[in-house]
Amino acid sequence: MKTITFLFFVICLISCGGNSGNDTTSTNTSPAKPEVKDPEAAKGLELITKSDCFTCHKLTEASVGPSYALVAAKYKTINEANMDSMVMQINKGGKGRWGNVPMTAHPAISKEDAQSMVHYIMSIKQ
Ligand code: HEC
Repeated sequence: MKTITFLFFVICLISCGGNSGNDTTSTNTSPAKPEVKDPEAAKGLELITKSDCFTCHKLTEASVGPSYALVAAKYKTINEANMDSMVMQINKGGKGRWGNVPMTAHPAISKEDAQSMVHYIMSIKQ
């Protein structure tokens, strides 16, 4: 009898936990590396995972858009000009930097959120 009560308890725990949609479930579905040390970059990864970025970008392989590792290699460091340039591409979209495939605009993403995303992208190594 005790075992059955215990089992019910466990089943409840599993199903309740599964429905709460916590951070572990969202990071599991992304192709991202598990550990991001820089808190700004970690926030960026979370925002990128929630947005549609991974439908067109992979970390180290070419997709519809360039891999984030290639973007990081192109810009090398984060300075004001690089940051502004990438934030603008995220907000307004556009093409011609990597080829003729256009990136869609994301006007709803705030400047701060776009900057966090860039911090994460710049933390990726090939
Ligand atoms: C519809 C597909 C698509 C989606 C969705 C998308 N991108 Fe892109 N992205 C592209 C393409 C294509 C390029 C290359 C555009 C070019 O040649 O200028 C690109 C380029 C970039 C660049 C490089 C810009 C540069 O200056 O070299 C960054 C950074 C970037 N995307 C970030 C993001 C982020 C962050 C998101 C999510 C908010 C996102 N992308 C969503 C297709 C996409």
